[in-house]
Formats: sequence, structure tokens, C-alpha cells
Amino acid sequence: MTLPMTVDHILALAPVVPVLIIEDAADAIPLARALTRGGLFALEVTLRTPAALEAIRAIAGEVEDAVVGAGTVTSAAARQAVANAGARFAVSPGLIAGERIEGPIPLLPGIATATELMAGLDHGFTAFKLFPASVVGGVSLLKALASPFPQAVFCPTGGIDAAKAPDYLKEPNVACIGGSWVAPRDAVAAGDWDRITELARAAAALPRARPAPAILT
Ligand code: 3PG
Repeated sequence: MTLPMTVDHILALAPVVPVLIIEDAADAIPLARALTRGGLFALEVTLRTPAALEAIRAIAGEVEDAVVGAGTVTSAAARQAVANAGARFAVSPGLIAGERIEGPIPLLPGIATATELMAGLDHGFTAFKLFPASVVGGVSLLKALASPFPQAVFCPTGGIDAAKAPDYLKEPNVACIGGSWVAPRDAVAAGDWDRITELARAAAALPRARPAPAILT
């Protein structure tokens, strides 16, 4: 049996959540194994390809170390569908109308402004994806939101790479960051799993300022 985890625990698993666009479901298991071997455990498989649900099912069934989630979840129905496929968390690029923290699996909603953040807090969320992070203000926005919203934590995603990652992870309101750079499309297409493990290993070693929740320490 797999124990349910809260969003806070999922975001604490590693400093980086790989954002995955899987074109061929046959890549799902070797890709997930390459990433977990490198120390990245929470994996976001985006619902942007026809193979996504099958990829989630495969990882959930076969890759024990992975905590597989679904990204690009934009409706309550999609949240339920990915939960049925075995996803243990869902990520949305924005606030899903009517969705609250309670649901079949934890949801990490996206926000880009203080107003959206206030709406999300009102619905019981305290952890948010800041999206698209590099466009809406990046580290400066995270610093600006920290003082009026001390209860909010973030997983900034969008436009972050290995060079920019350390600055984001220095912010105390950043639990982790998301990004596709750890699983480049060309490496996936070539089946270059060793390269992906190396990228994952470097990402997993990034220091972060925010302490992990007590249960993981
Ligand atoms: C996402 O969906 O979160 C982003 O597309 C990932 O952004 P990146 O490709 O710039 O890392």
C-alpha cells in the first residue's frame, strides 16, 4: 500500500521536481528510473501528450522510488482522472475554478499574482506553483510576496535552468523548484538515461534554504 502524502511532504522530497513531457509511454519507466537514481523522487508528468496517462500508470506501477504526479491538470475531472491512473499529486498552471485543497489527491495550484494567491489561500491552499516564474517576476516576486503572505510556500516553475536554480532555492518561501532541464527532450529521444541521471544528481545536490517538514528530518 502506498501512503498518501501532503503537498508539503512531496515538495520536500528533493530540491527539484522534473517537469516531463513524455511522447512515448515506453520511455516512462526508464526515464523515471534515471531520475530517481539521481535523487529526484517527485516527478511531474504533464498532460500534454496522448501518452501521459499511460506513462503515469506505468511509473506508478513499476517505479517504487518515484512519487509520480501529473502536471497541466486544468479541471476537477482531470484531477480525478490522474488520481485514477495512479498519480499521487496534481499540478496546475493556474487556479482551477471551484477546486479546493480537499480532493482525491493533493493539488499544487499555479498563481502569478497576489490576487490569485489570496484566492488560493481562501480555498485552503498554502503551497503554490509560481508560474511562469521567470516571466511574472521570478526571485523578486517571491521576495515581495514573502512579507504579506508568510504562510505561503512556492514551487516556482517556468524558465528555470541549472544556472538560475540556486538563486530561487535561496528563498525561504521556496520549497523546491520545477523544471524540464533535467530531462531534455533530445536525451529522452536518444534514450540517454545516464545523462539524465547526471543532471538529476546535480539538481538533487542543490542546497535550499527552507528546512524540510519535521516528519522528513
Ligand atoms: C511547466 O509546465 O511547468 C513548464 O513548462 C516547465 O517550464 P520549463 O520547461 O521552462 O522548465
